[in-house]
Amino acid sequence: MPPRSIIIDCDPGQDDAVALFLAISSPDELHILGITTVAGNVPLDATERNARMMCDIAKRDDISVFAGCDKPMQRDLVTAEYIHGNTGIDGIDVFDPKTPLQQDHAVDFIIDTLLARDKGTVTLIPTGPLTNIATAIERNPDILEHVEEIVIMGGAMREGGNRTPSAEFNILVDPHAADIVFNCGRPITLLGLDVTHQVLSTKERVDRIGALNNSVADATVGMLSFFHRYDTNKYSSQGTPLHDPCTIAYLLRPELFKTRKCNVSVETESELTLGHTAVDFWHVTGKPRNVNWAYDVDADGFYDLLTERLERF
Ligand code: BDR
Ligand code: CA
Repeated sequence: MPPRSIIIDCDPGQDDAVALFLAISSPDELHILGITTVAGNVPLDATERNARMMCDIAKRDDISVFAGCDKPMQRDLVTAEYIHGNTGIDGIDVFDPKTPLQQDHAVDFIIDTLLARDKGTVTLIPTGPLTNIATAIERNPDILEHVEEIVIMGGAMREGGNRTPSAEFNILVDPHAADIVFNCGRPITLLGLDVTHQVLSTKERVDRIGALNNSVADATVGMLSFFHRYDTNKYSSQGTPLHDPCTIAYLLRPELFKTRKCNVSVETESELTLGHTAVDFWHVTGKPRNVNWAYDVDADGFYDLLTERLERF
């Protein structure tokens, strides 16, 4: 099988950064057409710099990185420095990357790239708020027939919310964008907190990565050591959930995940539950099953995959 053509749309973020490393380490399966960045965990100038830093660390300064929307479609930007640190990637030292920032806006890159490729051949992987993807769909809906699948980190059912009692961060930041994407009519797989809260970076798992002794593994350990602080306190758990790499792991090893086709709708109005993902797991509404919802993951298999791939650097 030829590698799947992908665009990673992200807001690094330590866990976005590890997702980038996992994708970059897997050229036989994934061909990265470009990395697009969006405001989310931290403002846009930091997310685009962080994405370019990860390309430098992975020695792939040939990958094209684009900056996209600097705020959500209708709301003010909400960020998460209290989790990720002021840089978004606290835990490693920030430097000025060699990987250049491309001139085009990320939304233009997404539109032009999709239209130039064969129908049904490009997979989009958003690991931040869905602003860039929804803006591209609104601006040119013709892009949709070129999409093979959209594999998203976002949402929650059993796990409630991580930024409000009922909303996961990526969906909360831009619920209107999520609503557009969820109803776009293309195949969507959604990896939310129900699975990401199962892939905890315990000390033993992080130590295995540390023992690999290469610069990407060292950067991963540095970032996870910082990321660890907040979430282990919050969840009283043995490690932090490694949210965003679940998207790449799903593409590489879908058998690690259990999924079910469900209707998923987003709350876009209520002040109390804004950004809530209503997952119709039992199909009680009879509404179209627009999303392939992930509800279980083999966490050891996930960390085996991540460790094996990071060893390649
Ligand atoms: C999501 O929010 C961000 O903080 C992480 O990078 C991840 O994409 C988890 O809710
Ligand atoms: Ca993210």
